[in-house]
Amino acid sequence: MATAATDHMADELYGTPEAREAAFDAAVAADERIEPRDWMPEAYRASLVRQMAQHAHSEIIGMQPEANWITRAPSLRRKAILMAKVQDEAGHGLYLYSATETLGASRDELLDKLHSGRQKYSSIFNYPTLTWADVGAIGWLVDGAAITNQVPLCRCSYGPYARAMVRICKEESFHQRQGYELLLALSKGTPEQHEMAQDAVNRWWWPSLMMFGPSDDESAHSAQSMAWKIKRHSNDELRQRFVDICVPQAETLGLTLPDPDLRWNEERGHHDFGAIDWDEFWNVVKGNGPCNEQRLTQRRRAHEEGAWVRDAAAAYAAKHGGAKA
Ligand SMILES: [Fe+2]
Ligand SMILES: [Fe+2]
Repeated sequence: MATAATDHMADELYGTPEAREAAFDAAVAADERIEPRDWMPEAYRASLVRQMAQHAHSEIIGMQPEANWITRAPSLRRKAILMAKVQDEAGHGLYLYSATETLGASRDELLDKLHSGRQKYSSIFNYPTLTWADVGAIGWLVDGAAITNQVPLCRCSYGPYARAMVRICKEESFHQRQGYELLLALSKGTPEQHEMAQDAVNRWWWPSLMMFGPSDDESAHSAQSMAWKIKRHSNDELRQRFVDICVPQAETLGLTLPDPDLRWNEERGHHDFGAIDWDEFWNVVKGNGPCNEQRLTQRRRAHEEGAWVRDAAAAYAAKHGGAKA
């Protein structure tokens, strides 16, 4: 219970509310990291929990579309690579749930919000993986877009998130390369394989551009996140960077990007590209994508089926802790 006396004690220990806020603002302005024990505005904490939880959820839901192909990988080598990649994504989820826990959100609570639809994951994972070439297109485009988004997060103002991103980005870079190499093999293969690679790129290109989120003027959280240095670049800026990176890579792959308006703009020093179908984007965000229901059902089932593992781990920890005490 807060009383005048305890308030006074808190002020003595931690400074007045004005002083704490000023110290936080100064740390952000000086590009210092905010750490879990530091005072932070409640809205900063809430905004980080929302973003980091959504990121963690995306990592583990993102295992599903590709895991769908593990048993059908065309060779032992491809299977080993794909399994390593899918396991990496599980690891990314774990780092990010742990980092989110440093903000006082429990993992149970986060998973509960995912399972009940109160927290989102990236809409990109609500599209189906129809052929083996989709594994390549996801690695090249989806992991590629993720890297473009996440490299600046290595300098995010919140320490645990920034540090988790350093390792995640290294692994994402392997994911991007395996996808690129897979597509290259298909593109240079038989006409049917080339066709399959082109079809996958046709289907994944636009959803990948949507991964950067709505345009800057329509993005609800962008401005405040930039001010807090959680975000370093706007959605449109990152999307442009991604397009500029992909165009020469598509040429090397011998594949085309499905956008008749895509062309180099000498004046801007960037590629112009066509309009994004934001109606489709919002429709998928709202739960009406081709796989929204399937992904959540599968996730809930995996959680229920894993209950015995969590129980066993908790029992082991209690026993182990008891023995030590
Ligand atoms: Fe990942
Ligand atoms: Fe990845």
